[in-house]
Amino acid sequence: MIKVSDLKKDFPIFDREINGKRLTYLDSGATSQKPELVINEMSNVYSNINANVHRGTYVLSSETTAKYEDVRNKLKEFINAYSSDEIIFTKGCTEGFNFLANSICKDLNPGDEIILSEIEHHANIIPWQMVAEKYNLKIKYINITESFNLDIDHFESLLNSNTKVVSIVGESNMSGMLPDIKKLNSLIREKTNAIYIVDGAQLVPHRKIDVQDLGIDFICVSGHKMLGPTGIGVVWGRKELLEKLDPVYGGGDMIEEVFYETATWAPIPHKFEAGTPPYVEAIGLGAAVDYLTKLDMKNVEKHSDELRLYAKNKLENIDRLNIVHTNSNLAGCTFAMSVEGVHATDVSLMLDTFGVAVRAGHHCVQPFHRKLNLDATFRATGYIYNDEEDFDILSNTIEESIKLLT
Ligand SMILES: Cc1ncc(COP(=O)(O)O)c(C=O)c1O
Repeated sequence: MIKVSDLKKDFPIFDREINGKRLTYLDSGATSQKPELVINEMSNVYSNINANVHRGTYVLSSETTAKYEDVRNKLKEFINAYSSDEIIFTKGCTEGFNFLANSICKDLNPGDEIILSEIEHHANIIPWQMVAEKYNLKIKYINITESFNLDIDHFESLLNSNTKVVSIVGESNMSGMLPDIKKLNSLIREKTNAIYIVDGAQLVPHRKIDVQDLGIDFICVSGHKMLGPTGIGVVWGRKELLEKLDPVYGGGDMIEEVFYETATWAPIPHKFEAGTPPYVEAIGLGAAVDYLTKLDMKNVEKHSDELRLYAKNKLENIDRLNIVHTNSNLAGCTFAMSVEGVHATDVSLMLDTFGVAVRAGHHCVQPFHRKLNLDATFRATGYIYNDEEDFDILSNTIEESIKLLT
C-alpha cells in the first residue's frame, strides 16, 4: 500500500508553496517530480566518482562505468527483458522513436505500411511521417471509438501483408486509454510479419511491465516521467532484432574498428550509443528504478487505479466540464478536460492561483484534439505522490474557476 503523506516526504519539491498555497502537482503526465534518492545519487556521481564511461582504466572511470552498466541490469529486471544487452539508452522516448523509425524504415520497400492510432503522441507520429516521406511508405491510423478506445475491428481491417510496423501508445497521455497490448500482438502475429512497438512513456511509470509476456518487439521509455532525470530514456528491443538494425548515430564508443574509408560496429547495446552517453542521468534513472521497485509496481498500479476512480467520480459531477476519458474499467489516471466558452489556458492560469499545476494545450496530441473539434484542453494526471485530497482541491478549484471565468 502507498501512504502518500509519508511518501511525499521523499520529494523535496513538496516543501514549496505556490502563490501562498500548498503545491497540488497534477502534471506528472508532462514530467514527474524527483525523489531525494535520485537527486542525491546524481550529486554523488558528480561529487565523488565522476569520469567518462568506457574510456579510462583508472578507478574513477571504472566505478562510473560499473554504475552505468548496472542500470541496464536494473532495467532488465524492471521490465523483464531477456538480456541487459537489449537495454539501449536514449535521451528520451522521442529520441527512441526517431532511432527506431530511421533504423527500421530504411530497409522497407516503397508502398510498405506503418500503422499508428489516431490518439498517438507527436513523438509516435512525426518520426514516422519523416521517414515515410523519405522512403515512400504509407501511414494508416486506427480509428478511436466515441468512448476513446481503439477500434479493434478497424485495426484488424488495416492489417495486411504490406504492414511492416505497428506502433501504438501503451497508455494514452490524453484519454488514459490502455489498449489490450497482448490482444493487438496476437492479431499482428496472425496476419503480418510486422514489428510491434509500444510507446511506453506513460505506461512504464504506472504499470508493472513484462515485455516477454506482452510479446512485443520494442518499447520506448521516458526516464523523466518515472521519477528519473530529464535527458534519459530507454529503447528495449528483442536481441535478434537489435542485432539486425543499423545504428543511426555514428561517432565514438559505438565502433569496433575504424579505418579511413569504413568502420565496423560494436556489439549491442553499444553500437546504438554514439558519443559520451548521459551516464549521470542513466545512473539517476537507476535510482528511480530502485525507488519504484521498492514501492512495488503492483502497488503503484493499484494506487493509480484507485485514484483514477475517485478522481473520475469527482470530476464527472462538475457542471459544464467535458472530460476526454475512456469508459473502460482499466485506464490511466489522466483527465483531459474542457469548459465550453472558456479557453483551457485561462482555466489552468486560474488553477495556478490556487497552487494547482495542470497542463493546458494539445499535449502533443494535436490531430486528435482537432478531430474532437477541440483547440486545447487542460489536463490533470495523478501519480504516486497524489491522493484524494489533491483531486478534492482540483475539483473545488475547477468549480471556482468556472464561476469566475463565465
Ligand atoms: C504518450 C507519450 N509518448 C511520448 C512522449 C515523449 O516522451 P519524451 O518526453 O521522453 O520524449 C510523451 C511525453 O509527453 C508521451 O506522453
